[in-house]
Amino acid sequence: MAVVIPFESGPQASIESLVALAAPDMERVNATILSRTGSQVTMIPEVANHLINSGGKRLRPMLTLAMADLTGYSGEGHVKLAAAVEFMHTATLLHDDVVDESDMRRGKLAARKVWGNEASVLVGDFLLGQAFRMMVEVGNLRALEILSNAAAVIAEGEVMQLAAAKNTATTEDDYLAVIRGKTAELFAAACEVGPVLAGRAKDDLAACRSFGMNLGIAFQLVDDALDYGGKAAKLGKNVGDDFREGKITLPVVLSFRRGNAEERSFWTAALEKGEATQADLEHAIALMTRHRALEDTIKRAQHYGAMAKDALALFPASKVKQALEEAVDFCIARAY
Ligand code: IPE
Ligand code: IPE
Ligand code: MG
Ligand code: MG
Repeated sequence: MAVVIPFESGPQASIESLVALAAPDMERVNATILSRTGSQVTMIPEVANHLINSGGKRLRPMLTLAMADLTGYSGEGHVKLAAAVEFMHTATLLHDDVVDESDMRRGKLAARKVWGNEASVLVGDFLLGQAFRMMVEVGNLRALEILSNAAAVIAEGEVMQLAAAKNTATTEDDYLAVIRGKTAELFAAACEVGPVLAGRAKDDLAACRSFGMNLGIAFQLVDDALDYGGKAAKLGKNVGDDFREGKITLPVVLSFRRGNAEERSFWTAALEKGEATQADLEHAIALMTRHRALEDTIKRAQHYGAMAKDALALFPASKVKQALEEAVDFCIARAY
């Protein structure tokens, strides 16, 4: 099942300059990640490496490195913090696929399909613990505060989403609160901790945090459009998971609100029954097309992307600033 989101033409954007700039430090981040998945309990590295070795964009740790660079940090702590950020992300993915009952992740079977839900949850907990060990080793209390706050806020976002499941009365504001918590908070924290290590002033920290927050919102908006309009092969996860599970994302909020009474009863019934069929999914996508719900979700993402770029206006032009701006375009161009 693949539906192309019918946009005229999208921006061509690549993340290559961010990847190239971060490459030397990323090598050390990857080595740290590898060594910190080790445990005498052999199931731990087995499960963790299944996910870690399946790729993943490593977007969040690259943001940590790039922001440390942008703000002139010259120490070593950013490498461990970047690894900690990726561990937090990996832990949330292991937990998320259990919560969402997802079968595919990064183009492979989700860990829970190979080792079971219990192992996925527990190994996620292990990685979260390892992430906090690394933060403590870095020894910057403010960075520890930012990342531990993010860990709590991510969980709050996930619980908020759970409470809103199948509820078509969910508003766009409710949805935004969920994605700020579950996704954007980690982007914001990832972007703030490097500048914290660099000892930058409050305004600079706020600017970096705002970049991450707005980029994270844009990222999740695009991801939610792709859950209906993307291709499984490219996403490495199944299309339609959100719908089958009754998750209320912006494409649903917009289609429901813009629909007539008959369409609204379709949404309520399909989302509530918990086992929507392929025909239901196709009908849902047709309604989204009718109401331009996917295009408008991407337009919202573009708006937050623009806010992210403007947040960096304080910083003078540099290669790394340009790479960060291109990363914003890349996250939005995923939709095309
Ligand atoms: C997936 O994030 C979870 C969301 C916030 C949508 P990514 O798309 O960054 O996942 P990987 O790490 O590249 O697989
Ligand atoms: C992403 O959640 C955010 C977290 C993992 C906490 P989703 O459930 O929307 O992301 P995918 O679609 O499974 O990657
Ligand atoms: Mg999920
Ligand atoms: Mg989820």
